[in-house]
Amino acid sequence: MNYKVYFAKRIADSLDEQLTEQQAYELIETPKYASHGDLAFPCFTLAKAFRKSPALIAEELAVKMNDPLFEKVEAKGAYVNVFLDKAAVSKQVVEAILQQGSHYGDLSFGKEQTIVLDFSSPNIAKPFSMGHLRSTVIGSAIANIAEKCGYKAVRINHLGDWGTQFGKLIAAYKRWGDESKIKENPIKELFSLYVKFHEEAETDKQLESEGRAWFKKLEDGNEEAHRIWKWFRDESLKDFSRIYELLGVSFDSYNGEAFYNDKMEHIVHLLEEQNLLSESDGAMVVRLDEKELPPCLIKKSDGATLYATRDLAAAVYRYETYQFAKALYVVGREQSLHFQQVFSVLEKLGFDWAKTMVHVPFGLMLKDGKKMSTRKGRVILLEDALKEAIALAKQNIAAKNPGLENKEEVARQVGVGAVIFYDLKHERTSNIEFSLEDMLKFEGETGPYVQYTYARSCSILRNAQTAVTNTIHGLTTEESWKIVKLLASFPSVIEKAYEHLDPSLIAKYVIDLAQAFNSYYAHTKILVKDEELNSRLALVQAAAIVLKEGLRLLGIETPEQM
Ligand code: ARG
Repeated sequence: MNYKVYFAKRIADSLDEQLTEQQAYELIETPKYASHGDLAFPCFTLAKAFRKSPALIAEELAVKMNDPLFEKVEAKGAYVNVFLDKAAVSKQVVEAILQQGSHYGDLSFGKEQTIVLDFSSPNIAKPFSMGHLRSTVIGSAIANIAEKCGYKAVRINHLGDWGTQFGKLIAAYKRWGDESKIKENPIKELFSLYVKFHEEAETDKQLESEGRAWFKKLEDGNEEAHRIWKWFRDESLKDFSRIYELLGVSFDSYNGEAFYNDKMEHIVHLLEEQNLLSESDGAMVVRLDEKELPPCLIKKSDGATLYATRDLAAAVYRYETYQFAKALYVVGREQSLHFQQVFSVLEKLGFDWAKTMVHVPFGLMLKDGKKMSTRKGRVILLEDALKEAIALAKQNIAAKNPGLENKEEVARQVGVGAVIFYDLKHERTSNIEFSLEDMLKFEGETGPYVQYTYARSCSILRNAQTAVTNTIHGLTTEESWKIVKLLASFPSVIEKAYEHLDPSLIAKYVIDLAQAFNSYYAHTKILVKDEELNSRLALVQAAAIVLKEGLRLLGIETPEQM
């Protein structure tokens, strides 16, 4: 039950159509101080229509607000302040959560429409970077949130597995490559071949054209080129899957750039048909002057296709395959021009679904305040970071709870959860300073803190040694009330997180809920055997359900002991 909606309805009903429910809803505020009630309706805007002072309107309105869910309604200045009835509301909220379990907060506005999310999308033969981590965890969380809102999510990993760089890589491999070394440590070896290529190419002018020639062969379907490329791709995917497994992230499709190899001619054809192609220094481009954007490059002068060409083909393919209602691209901000160009070309082609495509950018992961750079060695490899986080979590567990069973599993859940939470608690578009230490703190706004709170709630329920029944009464203390209010707002937090495509709203919410829970725990003798025992346990269980579901949406697991 959304009490703000409920209050808005009561206001609208009492005002004889002066305001719609929606208008009333938008005016309602949440008072800063508990002494001003739980909800407040300001009457300023009504003064003109009623030709009365806002204060008088508030007074008249307040008397009409009699309701079993309202303990007290008070006119204060221009405001109607409502104090919800703690016992009645607590009963409703907690009973609903116990009944619905993890489905509490499910929304239906997605109407089972399809939303495709393009995220993670690393480049093969290159290390998985922190930027790709951000895309992976943000994209995966948004997909979970969209599903919670009633959408059907399709998770797509648009692997960077095509482009001139693979011609270069093949050229480098033919010159200096060592098959067995690559098999041992594929990404590292392939990446150093790539770096070597660029170093040598500065003096050896022959190299660049060799690289181009190999890419040409690749695009023309040459057997050897294709075999080597496929091998690089398979080896890289093995590496990536280890990371996805650690992170607990999965995809519905790994159709990367190469998949669109035979689907680009179709796009070129459509562009030609509609006279959208022009020539520029031998290359083919779509001019986007009217949008004040630089032209979108479709084919190079040697006939090679580009990143944008493949994205155009991918968009058309995805629409034909999934008939999506919305398509998101969770990709770093540095590609924002690219996506503007791609979306604009699709619009020019007359695809009205192009309007449903959104680039969802995110801030940088910084190290010592500076952008990470693979070339300059200022880089933290994701797998190393995850492993270190797991090791640190293991140390923590050994110190705090040496007797814990399945230590390894819990350390993985906590270490990985810490990294994911740290990423997601920052507003999506802000930059983040990378700090393993901060991620793994058990206190403060961290993943382990929320997980720890969840484990605590589980332990209380275990210690109670009694089954919780779903008949609630009481729960009227300030501390329990804080929890109940937060629990009641979970659905609207999910809706907002979807609206802003920002999982940080949920991360902040679970922190607030964990804090409210811990302060309740500090102030309340939960396990005392009195007539409210069952209600207190039910509140603990409701909080546990919502903490777990909140973390699940973020892609974080919840051990029951840690
Ligand atoms: N592989 C690209 C990169 O690492 C990201 C791809 C994003 N998705 C897309 N459809 N362009 O920069």
